[in-house]
Amino acid sequence: MQTNPRIQQQLQKWVEENRGHVILGTTAQYIPELGKADPSKLGICMLDEEGNYYCAGDTDIEFTLQSISKALTFIALSCHYGLEFVLERVDVEPTGEAFNSIIPFEIHRPNKPFNPFINAGAITISALLPGQTSQKKYEYLLHFLEELVGHPLEMDREVYDSEWKASHRNRALAYYLKEAKFLEIEVEEALDIYIRQCSIKVSTKDLALIGLIIAYDGYNPITKVKHFSDEIAQVAKVLMVTCGMYNSSGNFAAHVGIPAKSGVSGGIMAAVPPKLHSQTYEFRAGAGIGVYGPAIDVQGNSAAGTMMLRQISKEWDLSIF
Ligand code: DON
Repeated sequence: MQTNPRIQQQLQKWVEENRGHVILGTTAQYIPELGKADPSKLGICMLDEEGNYYCAGDTDIEFTLQSISKALTFIALSCHYGLEFVLERVDVEPTGEAFNSIIPFEIHRPNKPFNPFINAGAITISALLPGQTSQKKYEYLLHFLEELVGHPLEMDREVYDSEWKASHRNRALAYYLKEAKFLEIEVEEALDIYIRQCSIKVSTKDLALIGLIIAYDGYNPITKVKHFSDEIAQVAKVLMVTCGMYNSSGNFAAHVGIPAKSGVSGGIMAAVPPKLHSQTYEFRAGAGIGVYGPAIDVQGNSAAGTMMLRQISKEWDLSIF
C-alpha cells in the first residue's frame, strides 16, 4: 500500500501548529548533555500496520531513550524470566509522585518497588537483566532492541558520561534499594547498566516501530515476527497507561488516551491498538508513534509533543477509552 498524502499533510500541519508549545518546557538541565539540545525541535513519525511511515517536523535527529528504556527493559526481562518472576520483584502501581522520588518508599515501606517505570523500579529490574556483569546485561538488552528495530543500535557516550557524573539522586535511590534488599548486585554496577540503557540512541522511526509492535501485542505486522507474548504486551500497555507519563499519566489518559512512555530527552513512544469502531479511517488498524521534542515539562514529558498527541488523538479518534 502507498502512503496517504492527506495523512502526511495533516501531520505536517499539526507539527507546525504545536511548535509554539515548546515554550511550555525546557531541556533536561539536570543531565547537562541533554540540556544542550535545541528546545525548538519537534517531530513525529507514525507507522501503520502495512509499513507506511508518516514523518513530519524534526525527525532526522537521534536522541537517547532515557525513561523509554524502562518499558523495554521490562519487556526484555519478562521475555527472559517470565512475567511472574518480574512481577514478584516489581509492582504495577502508580505512585503519583515524580519519577525519581524517594517519598513513596519512606512513607509506605513497600515490599517491592511500586512499578518498573519510576527510577527505583527501573534500577531494580535493570540489575536483573541476564548476565554476570553490567556490560553483559547491557549487551542482552541491546540485542533484544536491535531485534525489534532491525538494525544496530549504540550508546551515546557523552550522554552516558554526563548522567553518570550527575546521578546523585539515582545513586541515593540505588543505595536505598540495596538497603531494602531489592538490589542483588552492587550499587555502582546497577547504576552503570541503568544509565547505559537510558543512553541508547534511537530515532522517532525506531520508536514508532517498537510502538507498533507493542500495539500489536508483541507481533510485528510488517515482518510477521512475534517478538513477545500477548500477556507481556498487555501488562506493558497497562503500565504505559498508568505510569508511562509519570505524575501526569491521568491527564495524558484523559486527553490523549494512548498507551505511551516518555523520556527526559524529549522522546515519547506510543502504541495505538487497532480500533475497528473508530470514528475516522486514519490508523483504524493501529499505529506506532515516535515523538521528539526536547523541551520537557515539570513532569519530565515533552511539552509540545504531549500537546501534539492530544490534537492527533482527538482528530483521528485514537483514544483506547
Ligand atoms: O534517571 C534519570 O533521571 C534519567 N536517565 C531518565 C529519567 C526519565 O527519562 C524520566 N522521564 N520522563
